[in-house]
Amino acid sequence: MRALQRTAGPKPGKDLALTRVSLRPSSRIVGLGRAVPERVLRNADLEALVDTSDEWIVARTGIQERRIARDDQATSDLALEAAREALRSASVAPEDLDLILVGTATPDMIFPATACILQDRLGARTAGAADVSAACSSFVYALAMAHAQVVAGLVTRVLVVGADTLSKIVNWQDRATCVLFGDAAGAAVVVPSDGRSGMLSFRLGADGSGHDLIAQRAGGSRLPASHRTVEEGLHYIEMNGREVFKFAVRTIPRAIEEVCEQAGVRVEDVDLFIPHQANIRIIQAAAERLGQPMEKFFVNVGRYGNTSAASVPVALYEAVAGGRLGAGDLAVLVAFGGGLTWAACALRWG
Ligand code: ACO
Repeated sequence: MRALQRTAGPKPGKDLALTRVSLRPSSRIVGLGRAVPERVLRNADLEALVDTSDEWIVARTGIQERRIARDDQATSDLALEAAREALRSASVAPEDLDLILVGTATPDMIFPATACILQDRLGARTAGAADVSAACSSFVYALAMAHAQVVAGLVTRVLVVGADTLSKIVNWQDRATCVLFGDAAGAAVVVPSDGRSGMLSFRLGADGSGHDLIAQRAGGSRLPASHRTVEEGLHYIEMNGREVFKFAVRTIPRAIEEVCEQAGVRVEDVDLFIPHQANIRIIQAAAERLGQPMEKFFVNVGRYGNTSAASVPVALYEAVAGGRLGAGDLAVLVAFGGGLTWAACALRWG
């Protein structure tokens, strides 16, 4: 494959990518959907809950407000709304889906998979269904799996969802975490492509030695739910923010460079980077390390906070809806999260 990248004939940049991927089948996104809860929680509201301030939150994270699910609103409720919109915009009927993948760290329950609940509620009777657990990287991981299934010829229509309601596992007395997260869902319908547009390459990574840096410790087989785990607050999300920050700043530029190299395109030819929306300072640091202007990075963290698996598909949805990403544009999706995990995808929109 490498030999195809720099041989005589194709010009560098966009033409090169088009030439390369047209040589083999790929997959592409034909419909997108998004769902966010109605309730808006502003920084000023958090000042009443914990010892924090609007100034601190904006300066340290770029977040101004986030959406919070109702008590009776679970991850699958948001996933369903986003999925229906994506299917409508793709003109794909639920009963024509072959596979449903839901990326989430906050499933409705530990099992069965939230994807199965979604399959039932959509009426997608012939679709296989499973969850993908890679924290904030889950959507891009699931997209890579959908792509592989499509390219292998095993399926033709896949619904990929990234959905999380981290507000349900946040300790609202812990100022180090409760100001960061919001709830949302994003969905995409993936179908075969002739390679002229669609997915160009993927990079998936993990460093399990950092599995302790972001975790919900109790509720699994290591620490089953008990009075003690509840009393000790072990069902809440815990995070070593500083270490995760350093990991993210290291990892995002490297993942972007690697996915571009694998796609046979140059980083400077990317029209829009769509990074995981965790913290504006992480995105700024990544842009600086890559020598790319901030204008090429899509940012909506101010309005939603970190929505975990929903972050990248919601940003992609808004980039397309707002005209930031158009037909023929080269984009890179890049995510990082608990695990530790990271995932990147280079794609030609169209
Ligand atoms: N309000 C006011 N002060 C605060 C708050 C707050 N909400 N939170 C922490 N502080 C204080 C700390 O106590 C500390 O005080 P001290 O110096 O007296 O000890 C001071 O602010 C600095 O704290 P730091 O943790 O060093 O602040 P930092 O600049 O690192 O910002 C943050 C913290 C925003 C969490 C940052 O580290 C970060 O964004 N990390 C990455 C998190 C992330 O991206 N997670 C994504 C993965 S999540 C997933 O996968 C589900």
